[in-house]
Amino acid sequence: MLQTDRLVTDFAADVRRDLALAPKQLQSKYLYDALGSSLFEAICRLPWYRITRAERRLLEQRAPDVIARLTRVSADAVPLFVELGCGSGEKLVILAEALQTAGGHGRVHLIDISSQALEQSERTLGRLRHFSVVGHRETYEVGLRHAAEHREDGNPMLVLLLGSNIGNFDTPAADGFLGEIRRALAPEDFLLLGADLVKPERDLLIAYDDPLGVTAAFNRNLLVRINRELGGSFDIDAFAHRAVWNPAAQRIEMHLESLADQAVTIASAGITVRFARGERIWTESSYKYDESQIEQMGIRAGFAVAEQWIDDDARFALTLFSAI
Ligand code: TRP
Repeated sequence: MLQTDRLVTDFAADVRRDLALAPKQLQSKYLYDALGSSLFEAICRLPWYRITRAERRLLEQRAPDVIARLTRVSADAVPLFVELGCGSGEKLVILAEALQTAGGHGRVHLIDISSQALEQSERTLGRLRHFSVVGHRETYEVGLRHAAEHREDGNPMLVLLLGSNIGNFDTPAADGFLGEIRRALAPEDFLLLGADLVKPERDLLIAYDDPLGVTAAFNRNLLVRINRELGGSFDIDAFAHRAVWNPAAQRIEMHLESLADQAVTIASAGITVRFARGERIWTESSYKYDESQIEQMGIRAGFAVAEQWIDDDARFALTLFSAI
């Protein structure tokens, strides 16, 4: 209860600050309310959004390799898995099952801003007999700190940052965050990083602006949420979803474009915001990399590359970094 109140207050303050920026912005973490989380689950099933399936294929093929690395120092070690942005938990369960098959036990800490995602992940992982599961409804930074308090010497920790979630940070923020992860780890620990690769523009665009309009609904739901939780007056029909590929920055940008000159009031934020026709709110960036850029990003943060696996079909990379 207390925590929910605090998140609502932050939401109003963040919206007030970010809609005063030029260009106007909204933070993508607020996309994931209950409806947003369901819409994102639907995106992951779209034929045009291939990241989730590619990553799952790689995990299914490589889980035994990851587990072998984790248990190399000691076969009886009890690894601590910490997943940042756990979503449905269905990826981590692949690794956990591989550890169980090898006769091992483990502990799981799940971090997500969405209570719906956490509940679903706790259910998914609750099926495992040889695992304890703890959920944290927190941002990555705070959740990582809390989960890392449970690290024990002799038992390796594996941080999972999957689904191309790293791509939602700009380069300095990604470097800073990977550095924070590195500082939470000790030399026998690992980071498993999922990151999407640069590919032809039409493949990138259709993944973020699909013909069924699910991604558009996901993005525009942010305005629905502001109306409901903060007393906003957004006319949802007067904003359109836009996905743009910025080749120089190697990122997809998601925007909400005002289709008219209009003013919107947001009662809990105490603001009235004017929009010109064609003006955009920038809601999300999704950076795309080449293989060596991913390796370099980890190396800059103080990791060594243990393995890198590529799904050539969807052009997606899973990289296992060692904290060395
Ligand atoms: N982490 C996902 C990605 O960058 C999030 C995402 C997928 C997303 N589709 C979106 C965010 C559309 C905003 C709008 O691939």
